[in-house]
Amino acid sequence: DKRHTVLIDVDTFNSQRIFVSQKGRDLWHSDFVKMPCSQVAHQKSRWDVISKKLKSLASKKTASVKDVEEAIIKYNPKYKDQWSFDALHTLDKITPYTENYYKTLFPKIAALALKLPKFVNKAIPLLRKGQSAAITLSQVQISCLLANAFFCTFPHRNTSSPNAEYSGYPSINFNSLFGNWSRRKGEKLRAIMHYFKEVTDESTQPKGLVTFERECLSYTDMPTWESCKANLSKLHITSEGQIELEGKGMLQVDFANSLIGGGVLGSGLLQEEILFVINPELIVARLFTEKLEDNECLIITGSQQFSSYLGFGDSFEWAGPYEDQSERDEWARRKTKILAIDAMNFRHSVDQYRMRHITRELNKAYCGFKGYDGHENPDIATGKWGCGAFNGDPQLKALIQLMAAAKAKRGLAFFTFGDENLKQHLQRIYELMFAEGITVGTLYKLLRDFSSAKHCDSHVDLFDFIEKNRNSKSHL
Ligand code: APR
Repeated sequence: DKRHTVLIDVDTFNSQRIFVSQKGRDLWHSDFVKMPCSQVAHQKSRWDVISKKLKSLASKKTASVKDVEEAIIKYNPKYKDQWSFDALHTLDKITPYTENYYKTLFPKIAALALKLPKFVNKAIPLLRKGQSAAITLSQVQISCLLANAFFCTFPHRNTSSPNAEYSGYPSINFNSLFGNWSRRKGEKLRAIMHYFKEVTDESTQPKGLVTFERECLSYTDMPTWESCKANLSKLHITSEGQIELEGKGMLQVDFANSLIGGGVLGSGLLQEEILFVINPELIVARLFTEKLEDNECLIITGSQQFSSYLGFGDSFEWAGPYEDQSERDEWARRKTKILAIDAMNFRHSVDQYRMRHITRELNKAYCGFKGYDGHENPDIATGKWGCGAFNGDPQLKALIQLMAAAKAKRGLAFFTFGDENLKQHLQRIYELMFAEGITVGTLYKLLRDFSSAKHCDSHVDLFDFIEKNRNSKSHL
């Protein structure tokens, strides 16, 4: 009986699932998103200024970056000297005249943002830590919320001081995307602008729903890994392809930050940020998702991919529109499921071999892989989770995910992202363990011995260790 808030009118779809529709539309309250169009005294006057500015932009045929900047600063005067718009200016300048549709797009984004009180007329609850809960929004509502984020209309969130109301939330206004030009920023902005182009055009405007579910694994549901009798499930390993393309139809793992979306509104462009840039609807999760705790994950069903891309990090390039052909479910949601789980960030690589940390990662992966009511629970598409920016050991992370998938009784497709060496070694060790019927519990005990061995000799290789020690009596 998880709380599920549906933000669209209830009779527009037909479902057996439990939900609570939130009646109040303007709840200026710590359990809800504080909306820019709220009618509480101090915000009302700010919304008056915002709507005046946006109306004036929306009434034009074309608007310049300068117009956008001037509007945003008008209702965010405190940031006049702090926020920079040079990335947006540069993008506009370097885009060839024939391809530059931005000036005609800005008025349309402003018009969309203005529809907020009409489109989102129910309060949006926050997905807070420690509570499993879900929110369903239409793609139109999401586009309207993101148009507001683009125009930086959300009330300021103090995220910096540890006791501040929003210290545990990601940022949502797009101001940080607009400054500090770099090639990366340019490519990200091209993808974001393309999204707005699609959602403001009636012929391409998306019509489905998207659900955001925070799942919290209770302490009683945490497996006792040491005595887990589950056998390994099926594993498909490939060095080619990417999770979000070849993994379509599977539960796709987002190598997340505990603050969902990580650096998507800054200059980050790793797996999570790329995912969010090509599926911008994911960005709206930042509006209401509190930082994930060790036993929590976020599952997003139904988001649409709008852009194609090439490269990774510095070599990332927006590669044009993407036609998302995914089927829809009975809720008119695309059958795309994205699972955000945040690995630990190991400053000192050796820390990851502590059993406390291994168990944390096992529980985190299991929390996401476990399978929940109302989901079809397909196989999982993952890869070197936690092994880039977060410095994890790909061998260890592969085994951890394999163990969590086995406990959850789900198959795993593992994308090594071009790492041929890992592919071959993982294939070999998996076949060996599978043939011998090694259980999750045995593997856990082997990891414990490995942890001690690694402590004495940092050069020990995990797969070699398992191969040599898998039959030793202490694990059986
Ligand atoms: N499909 C499969 N594998 C991929 C893909 C992809 N689309 N993209 C990247 N990889 C591989 C790469 O080999 C990469 O080095 O996964 C590795 C880990 O990716 P990272 O994004 O660095 O993941 P992680 O170490 O978990 O870092 C998470 O980075 O993006 C931010 O917000 C995120 O702060 C968080 C941190």
